Amino acid sequence: MSRQLFVTTALPYANGKFHIGHIMEYIQADIWVRFQRMQGNHVNFVGADDAHGAPIMIAAEKAGLSPQQFVANIAAGRKEYLDGFHIEFDNWSSTDSPENHALAQQIYRDLKTNDLIETRTIEQFFDPDKNMFLPDRYIKGECPKCASKDQYGDNCENCGAVYAPTDLINPYSALSGATPVLKSSEHFFFKLSDQRCVDFLESWTQDGRLQPEVANKVKEWFSVRTNPDGSQSEGLGDWDISRDAPYFGIQIPDAPGKYFYVWLDAPVGYLASLKNLLEKRGENFDAYMALPGLEQHHFIGKDIVTFHTLFWPAMLKFSGRKTPDKIHVHGFLTVNNGEKMSKSRGTGLDPLKYLSLGMNPEWLRYYLAAKLNAKNEDIDFNADDFMARVNSDLIGKYINIASRAAGFIAKRFAGKLGEVSADGSSLLAALRDQKDNIEQLYESRELAKALRETMLLTDRVNAYVDQNKPWELAKQPGMDARLQDVCTVCIEAFRILSIYLKPVLPALVLQVEHFIKTRPLSFSDVASSLGKDHLIGDYKHLMQRVTPEQLEALFEPPAQAESALEAIDSIATVPGGEEIAPTITIDDFAKIDLRIAKIVNCEAVEGSVKLLRLTLDVGEGRMRNVFSGIASAYKPEDLIGKHTVMVANLAPRKMKFGISEGMVLAASHADAKAQPGIYVLKPLPGAMAGMRIG
Ligand code: 2FM
Ligand code: ZN
Repeated sequence: MSRQLFVTTALPYANGKFHIGHIMEYIQADIWVRFQRMQGNHVNFVGADDAHGAPIMIAAEKAGLSPQQFVANIAAGRKEYLDGFHIEFDNWSSTDSPENHALAQQIYRDLKTNDLIETRTIEQFFDPDKNMFLPDRYIKGECPKCASKDQYGDNCENCGAVYAPTDLINPYSALSGATPVLKSSEHFFFKLSDQRCVDFLESWTQDGRLQPEVANKVKEWFSVRTNPDGSQSEGLGDWDISRDAPYFGIQIPDAPGKYFYVWLDAPVGYLASLKNLLEKRGENFDAYMALPGLEQHHFIGKDIVTFHTLFWPAMLKFSGRKTPDKIHVHGFLTVNNGEKMSKSRGTGLDPLKYLSLGMNPEWLRYYLAAKLNAKNEDIDFNADDFMARVNSDLIGKYINIASRAAGFIAKRFAGKLGEVSADGSSLLAALRDQKDNIEQLYESRELAKALRETMLLTDRVNAYVDQNKPWELAKQPGMDARLQDVCTVCIEAFRILSIYLKPVLPALVLQVEHFIKTRPLSFSDVASSLGKDHLIGDYKHLMQRVTPEQLEALFEPPAQAESALEAIDSIATVPGGEEIAPTITIDDFAKIDLRIAKIVNCEAVEGSVKLLRLTLDVGEGRMRNVFSGIASAYKPEDLIGKHTVMVANLAPRKMKFGISEGMVLAASHADAKAQPGIYVLKPLPGAMAGMRIG
C-alpha cells in the first residue's frame, strides 16, 4: 500500500536570500521526498515564504516598498536556488496568501470556541514618533547591570545580563531614536497552560514521534524547575499571539487593530501552501487532510523546536485538526569549522556563488548527504573533505565503474550486454541484498549511513574489476565472452548502485538512465536486471572532478566590485541596517587610534555567555586585557594567534569581570536579532602588531 505524505521544510523569512543553511535543509528534505517517491509513495512537498512580522514591515519601509512588494521581490529570487540545487517543491506559496489568512483566522476562531483564547492588558514600550509598540529588539538603552550603552531590550551583549526592556537605562527607540513611553494594550493569549494543552502535549511530545534528544529537551519545558542561571521555569506559559497595528500580518477576527503574531500564522502557511497546491490541481484540501493514514512531516532546524513541538501541535489539536506525525530536526551547518550556518547566518558558502563557479549542485547534495544523520547534530562543511568525498568516493568509486566497462561494451560488443556467470551473479546478489537496509536508512534519514553502505558496495564492484582486469582480457585472444561478462556485471552493478544513489543525485541518475537505456529507476527495480542482449547507449563522461581552484574561488572573499554589486543588489537600501553616520572631519577621525593587535590569548569568561576575554599585544611591551561580546560567533581557539584591529586609546572601562582596556573592531548588522552575525576584523597578511591604521 502506498503511503500518503505531506512534507514541508521550515518557511524562510521573506527578508533575505537563501543561504547555505536553508539549502541544506531543503536538500535533506528533497532527498527524503525523492526516496519516498521511488518507493511508490505519494508525496506533496510544499514550501512558502514566511512573509509577516515587524522586521519585514520595517525593512520594506526602509526600502520604500510596500511589504507585499518587498516580499514579492524576495520570492522572485527563490527559483534560482531551488532549481539550481535540484530541490523540487510541488508548490511555493506565501503566508500572506488568501488561503493562509482564511486558515489562520479559522484556527483562531476554533481555539476561541474551545475557550483557549483570553485577553489581558499588558504594558509595553511605545514609540511616540513612529506611533507603534516596539518589539524588544527595537528598544535600546544602557544595560541596567553594566551600564554599557546601546544594548538591546532583552539582554546585554556586553555582560550577558537578561532583563525586561523596561529595566534599560535611558531607553530609546532603535527606529526613531525617540524615548519610548509605557503604554498599555490588550493582548490575546493562547492558553497553553490550560490543563488540556499540558496533558495533550506531555503525551504528544513523548510518544515516539520526535527524535529522542528532541523529546528529552522538550520534556524540560513542562516542569517547574530552577535553571542553571538561577531563574525559575514555570512550566508551560500562555502564549501572546497578538500584535498591535501597525503590523504586517493577518488581522485577528473581531479585534480591529490587532494582528496575529507572525509565529501564529507561519506554520499555518504549511497548510495554506498545500491547500493552494491542491486547489490548483482541482483536489479538495479537507478531503486530503482527512485521508486515513495521511502522514504530516516537517523538516526544521533545532532553533525552532518550541514552535513546532508545542504551539503548532496544540493549535492544530485544539482547533480539531490533524497534528504532525514527525518533526525532523536537524542541526546547524558550519563552514570550514568556522561560523554557525544556521538560518540566521548567511556568510561562508554562498549558494549562488557556488553555482556561478560552475560547481556541480550534486557534489553538494552528495557531500551533505554523506554527513547528515537522523540526529540534530551540527555538521561541518570542510573544503578538503568535500574534495576527497566527491573526487575519491563519488567519482573515483561510483562513476568509475561505468567508465571502466562502457567503452568495451560499445567498441567490442556494439553496445550489447552479455551473459553473466556465477561470480558476477553472486556479486550482483550481494548488491541486491543491501536494498532493504538502504531503504531503511533513507526512511530513517540516516543519509550518511545509506551512502556509506552504498560506497562499500562500490568497493566490492571495483575489487571485482581489479581481479578480472577487463583491460587485460581485452588484449587476450579468446577472452571476448569473459570480457563481455565482466563488463556486463559492471553495468548491471552500476544500475543497482544508481538506484541507491538516485534520491541524492537525481540529475546524474537521469543521465545514467539515458546511457543504459532504461525507464526511470525506482527501488523495486533493484530485483530486476537489464539482461542479456540489452543495448546500452554511448558513455559520455558523467561527472567532472571538483578542483582546488574552484574551492579556493568559492571561499575567496568577494572582490570589492563584486561586493559593491551585491550591496546594490541587496534588498535593504540601508547598508547594514543603519544610516551612514553624520560626516566628521579628518581631525575627528584622527582622535581614534586604531592599531593592529595580535590576539595572544583568548578565553571564555565564566558567568558570561556573550563575552570573550582577549589578551592583546599592540606592540607596547605590555598586554592589554579586552572583553569583547563575540562569544556567540567565535571559539577562543579560533582567534588565538590571529591579528585584528583595536581601538587603542579608548578610556579603560570597569566591567563586571574586570577592566577592559580597549575595544576590538567587529562588523555586525544593526538589527542583530534579524540578521545575527559578528565578524571580527582581520588585516591582510603582513600587518604587524602595533601598526597604526589610518
Ligand atoms: O525561523 C524562521 O526562519 C521562520 N521563518 C520559520 C517558520 S517555520 C513555519 F512555522 F513557518
Ligand atoms: Zn551589561
